[in-house]
Amino acid sequence: MIIPVRLGEASYDIEISRGAIDLAAEKIVKKDRKILVVTDSGVPKEYAERLFSSLGEGAILHTIPSGEENKTFNTLQGVLRRMLDEGFVRSDCIVALGGGVVGDLAGFAAATYMRGIDFYNIPTTLLAQVDSSVGGKTAVDLDGYKNMIGAFWQPRAVFIDPDLLSTLPSRQISNGLCEALKMGATSDPELFEIFEKNDVLSHPELIEEIIIRAVTAKRDVVEIDEREGGLRKVLNFGHTLGHAIESSLGLSLLHGECIALGIPPMCEGTVKERLQTALKNIGLETDAEKYISDKNALLEALAHDKKGASGGKISAVILKDIGNFEFVKLTPEELIERLG
Ligand SMILES: NC(=O)c1ccc[n+]([C@@H]2O[C@H](COP(=O)([O-])OP(=O)(O)OC[C@H]3O[C@@H](n4cnc5c(N)ncnc54)[C@H](O)[C@@H]3O)[C@@H](O)[C@H]2O)c1
Ligand SMILES: [Zn+2]
Repeated sequence: MIIPVRLGEASYDIEISRGAIDLAAEKIVKKDRKILVVTDSGVPKEYAERLFSSLGEGAILHTIPSGEENKTFNTLQGVLRRMLDEGFVRSDCIVALGGGVVGDLAGFAAATYMRGIDFYNIPTTLLAQVDSSVGGKTAVDLDGYKNMIGAFWQPRAVFIDPDLLSTLPSRQISNGLCEALKMGATSDPELFEIFEKNDVLSHPELIEEIIIRAVTAKRDVVEIDEREGGLRKVLNFGHTLGHAIESSLGLSLLHGECIALGIPPMCEGTVKERLQTALKNIGLETDAEKYISDKNALLEALAHDKKGASGGKISAVILKDIGNFEFVKLTPEELIERLG
């Protein structure tokens, strides 16, 4: 299945299919072009080996240490320096083979090396397949603040292969499903129903449809608002409190686990219960109070939230019904109150 992303000159295709990793080389390999494949130490080596068997001679593997703590300038510099040492020029390219950390960092390297070179993404975590590989946001963290330095840089193509998820721990599957559930709740009622009605974790055959629907929903938003001037803010549903919870708890919870805690307070009326049921169905906790011991730390984290703070108020998304949301501006105190 090919999902086209229509962004004028920056348009590209997202290929979603079992075995898509084997199709990548056909698009990436061009005569006399160097290819830097960036992966991390946690991505099973068999995937890079498989990719290299079809990429051929021009390809070079660059492995960064895994983990969000390595999504830094230092690691970025390592990638850029490697390209310089290998004599990369503007017509060469970068391929990300990994989760969101690899995709964001390699994408940013592609955006900045010699003012921008071709970038291809082969996401290997579910979060990266349903969310971070779509939409062209690239970044590294700065002084512990996530995604502070980055660029919009669309890939030339994305290859999503659900078979690569077979090695992913189930906690990481739930982590990615949370972002897909978020897309369903705000933009695709049929996608949401998959989570509401099924024990998705015991039905891996549902994953492909979930990926296709989530990618399509995100694509539809990004096509309308590439640079987050308006509608794209809907992707932050659950993320206002979720991010604050994430930064105040350090790295003990995964991103999706924090978003699951940040979603129910942003739901109104009966839809709240529906969201809680769906989140529990994908193995996620929904009761933020269990995790938050220090509301002041949360307030401080909210004050730092870069996602649209203006005049002391923070942009947030309220869900009124499945597929029906509203943008609001709330103070950090009003947000904390919603936790109950
Ligand atoms: N650009 C965007 O629009 C966007 C959107 C959402 C999130 N993000 C970013 O994505 C990042 C999180 O991404 P993530 O959740 O993929 O984390 P991650 O990239 O750290 O991957 C999680 C872990 O899984 C390992 N891994 C990767 N593929 C695997 C596989 N197939 N089998 C087994 N293990 C595998 C990795 O080595 C890593 O240890 C954050 O930095 C976040 O800011 C970006
Ligand atoms: Zn997220």
